[in-house]
Parts: sequence; C-alpha cells; structure tokens
Amino acid sequence: MKQRTLTNQQHIHTAIIMDGNGRWAERRGLPRNYGHRAGADAVRRVVKAAPELGIDTLTLYAFSADNWRRPEREVGSLFRLFHSYLLSETEKCVEHGIRLNVIGRRDRLTPTLLDAVMQAEDATAGGAALHLNIAIDYSARDSIMAAANLAAGGAGSREAFASAVALASNQKAVSFDVDLLIRTGGEQRLSDFMLWESAYAELYFTGTMWPDFGEADLAQALSAFHSRERRFGRIREAVAV
Ligand code: FPP
Repeated sequence: MKQRTLTNQQHIHTAIIMDGNGRWAERRGLPRNYGHRAGADAVRRVVKAAPELGIDTLTLYAFSADNWRRPEREVGSLFRLFHSYLLSETEKCVEHGIRLNVIGRRDRLTPTLLDAVMQAEDATAGGAALHLNIAIDYSARDSIMAAANLAAGGAGSREAFASAVALASNQKAVSFDVDLLIRTGGEQRLSDFMLWESAYAELYFTGTMWPDFGEADLAQALSAFHSRERRFGRIREAVAV
C-alpha cells in the first residue's frame, strides 16, 4: 500500500458518498426516485470530469448494505436505475477508457443485474483512463470482517490485509487507499464506506445535494485537497524532503 505525499499529485483516488437525492426531489415536490434519476446524471458529469482533474480511481457509493432498509419501492427503482445505467454507459466507458467495477456483495443482486455487471466489467476491462468503482450492496465493516476471516491464522502484513479487504469487496483498482473522500448533502459521517481505505483520506463535506453536483464542484473539492498538507503521521519538516 503506497502512501503518497505530493501536494500536487496526479493519480488521485477520490471516493464519493453521493447524498441528498431524496431531499433534492422532496424540495421540488417530486417523488424521491426523481432525485435518484437526477443523481444518475450527476454521476455521468463527474465520471466525465474526473480524469481531466487528475483522478485515476473514482469510487461511488451507490447503495449501502443498510439501504435495504428503505421502502421496497425505492429499492426497486434504485436497482432499475443501476441496471439501466450499466446498459447505457458501458459503450461510452469503453470509448473513453473507463474501467468499470462494481464493488460490494454480489449474492443479493438479481441474476439479470449480475449479468449486466459482469458484461460491463468484461467489456471495459482494458480501460486505463479511469478506474470507476460503483459500490452496490456495500459495507466496509463486512469487507473488513471478511478480510479478517481470509487472513485468519496468518500474521500477514498490512499490505496483504489491504489486498484481502479489496478482494473481499471485489475491488480490482490499483490504488486502494482513498486520497480524497467527498460527501455531498450536508451530513458529516462515513456511513460504513471505505473505512479501511480511508485511514489517511482527506475529508471534504459539502452542503450541495448530489443531483446539483458537477464538474465545478469536483474541481473545488480537488482544489481544497491540493491545499492540504498530508503528513501521514510525520512532522512538517519531514514531509518537505
Ligand atoms: C443518497 O441520497 C443516495 C443514494 C442512496 C443512492 C445513490 C444513487 C444514485 C446517485 C443514483 C444513480 C447511481 C448510479 C451509479 C447510476 P438519499 O436518497 O439518502 O438522499 P436524502 O439523504 O436526501 O434522503
């Protein structure tokens, strides 16, 4: 697990908790699923903008393992949206060199969605411009627990455990460590997202609702990130050398 200290680094792993779809819709007197649909448009904008901003891995939190507690109707419409996103975006991902991976549990996905996931992953496997992880039925705690089981009995290194966490959540990215973690929608919590990988992530919270988030907002978050000094436990003088 390589740690990076350059303040103007490229190859940034950005993870986003895309929050605020429901409130965005409710404020407009619309059903919540309209917010999710507008959220899918924001996903398209951000994916397009990410490589130009130096992001090489983008991990988006689309559905947590706890989101199953939402009304069945909302869950159904979210999963239909994920399916149609995979169908409509795969070709564009291939065209733009985007490698797509769905991370999280797979055993609770319908066979049709799983099929679409695997087809999208196969078709985009050669992409090198951006590694796009979409977290569906994801729980960081479950991944860490699964990794602990995988690693049981061995006094493995931190790097080996990081790979086990990645394996447990189906991540295939090169940069597992999150550099910048963004949460939209005004809340300031991690909600069981990338807990291991975010040990040294810079946190960025914004009140902007996810459907309103776009390229300029992402650029602003990146600019805040570049202004931070990342010390990884060291003192300032040591970082400068
Ligand atoms: C959180 O907002 C958002 C979600 C649980 C779903 C995220 C899904 C999308 C952005 C839709 C499309 C995604 C892809 C990958 C195509 P919320 O519903 O909790 O909002 P609230 O806090 O305002 O209620």
